[in-house]
Amino acid sequence: MVKEAEVVKVGPEDVAALAERFEGVPAEKIVRWAAETFLPDIGLASSFGAEDVVLIDIISRVAPDVRIFTLDTGRLPDETYDVMERVRERYGVVIQSYFPDREKVERLEREKGFYSFRQSVENRLECCGIRKVEPLRRALSGLRAWMTGLRRDQAATRATTNAVEWDEGNGGIVKVNPLVNWTHERVWEYIRARDVPYNALHDRGYPSIGCAPCTRAVKPGEDIRAGRWWWELEDEKECGLHIPVRPKE
Ligand code: ADX
Ligand code: SF4
Repeated sequence: MVKEAEVVKVGPEDVAALAERFEGVPAEKIVRWAAETFLPDIGLASSFGAEDVVLIDIISRVAPDVRIFTLDTGRLPDETYDVMERVRERYGVVIQSYFPDREKVERLEREKGFYSFRQSVENRLECCGIRKVEPLRRALSGLRAWMTGLRRDQAATRATTNAVEWDEGNGGIVKVNPLVNWTHERVWEYIRARDVPYNALHDRGYPSIGCAPCTRAVKPGEDIRAGRWWWELEDEKECGLHIPVRPKE
């Protein structure tokens, strides 16, 4: 069980050394350190994809006081609500959902219809901005750190991700990515070994799952994120939750 420590300040100047310290360290140790350092001001952002259910299982074992939140965009597939419910039952956890601003969604749908995100990258980023990025800012307000299921080999834009980062784009907060070194196969070995509840869409060809109208199954051999915003170019496929950290020149 994790005890709440006295407040240890972690600033942008500390993260490079922390990233080095936690390179290759087991996820459990990273999660425990994050909880000891930041509780109660830390939360896991969970979309209930494969990585996030692994993290929930780890948190339930080593740091059950870490809060779990989700950005309920209003366009999630039914299968995502189904796994959220199964996670609630299995671990007895509270899942805090954050909704988009009602007026902004009403205006967007009134002015641009229900599939504006298909018309241009700009419109897609507008929808993600309203349904994901602004609710994330609210979820993070008051926190000193957040945890995610990002992995380096998910995308070229994520190749330089570290276990501990400074997230200036989300208001100047520490970002902890305990699975940064894990492969897709390792994630699934963990899920099977511990019989972790997972999104049923994973068994139907969806390795990466977001909103229903912006996610589809991939064909064998296709990239794991090929089914996300599939009508866009590869390097445009980030929604604004994760602003890639550029390596220093
Ligand atoms: S996304 O930016 O393309 O949507 P992805 O689906 O790969 O991200 O998920 C990466 C991480 O972002 C997840 O492990 C999770 O920490 C966070 N995340 C993504 N979508 C959500 C969501 N709807 N609610 C909470 N966290 C999310
Ligand atoms: Fe909107 Fe699609 Fe982004 Fe979801 S993933 S917020 S539906 S553009």
